[in-house]
Amino acid sequence: MDASPNSVAATPVTLEAAFRAAMRRLAATVTVISTRSESGLRHGMTATAVTSVSADPPAVLACVNRSAALHAQLGLGRRLCINLLHCSQQRLSEVFSGAVEGEDRFAQGEWLSDAEGVPYLADAQANIFCEVEALHAYGTHSICIGRVVQVVCRPDVAPLVYQDGAYMCTGPLATPQE
Ligand SMILES: Cc1cc2nc3c(=O)[nH]c(=O)nc-3n(C[C@H](O)[C@H](O)[C@H](O)COP(=O)(O)O)c2cc1C
Repeated sequence: MDASPNSVAATPVTLEAAFRAAMRRLAATVTVISTRSESGLRHGMTATAVTSVSADPPAVLACVNRSAALHAQLGLGRRLCINLLHCSQQRLSEVFSGAVEGEDRFAQGEWLSDAEGVPYLADAQANIFCEVEALHAYGTHSICIGRVVQVVCRPDVAPLVYQDGAYMCTGPLATPQE
């Protein structure tokens, strides 16, 4: 067996291709990051590179490609909402990752605005409202750290998961593990 570090099974590949192959094995809950620009336009983008950073103060991070339209909206102090999608919301993920452009994306799903005007998905599994406190450019992306200012959770825990280039729902293991 080829055990060289930059390989997938027995096929040698570039480091970049091996990294992409590894990332296909990192299952992640699908989110839509939403915000409103100073001119009042809504912006939203599907993202899975979202994770918790700190419990106290509560903070999250999102990695946003510098080529994405949302990137220009990520100034310090900007309010965002990270909407954690339910496994019934695959179409929303597709719409917010390029199937539809600009404000028209918000025609899909039930979008409301909070007191600050931040758009949020009313039937997401959870809405994490945050304020951008730090931005760090790295390679193709910027790491955006948001201090959490409010959270809304709905009872149903059934995330839309992206794994190996496909959408799926989670479920219990068929047999208990030893
Ligand atoms: C499941 C999924 C997860 C994604 N995760 C991210 C992500 O974490 N960060 C990112 O910058 N783009 C991510 N993308 C790509 C963006 O959603 C996509 O490029 C989007 O169309 C860019 O926004 P724009 O069309 O408004 O420029 C993801 C796409 C999909 C389908």
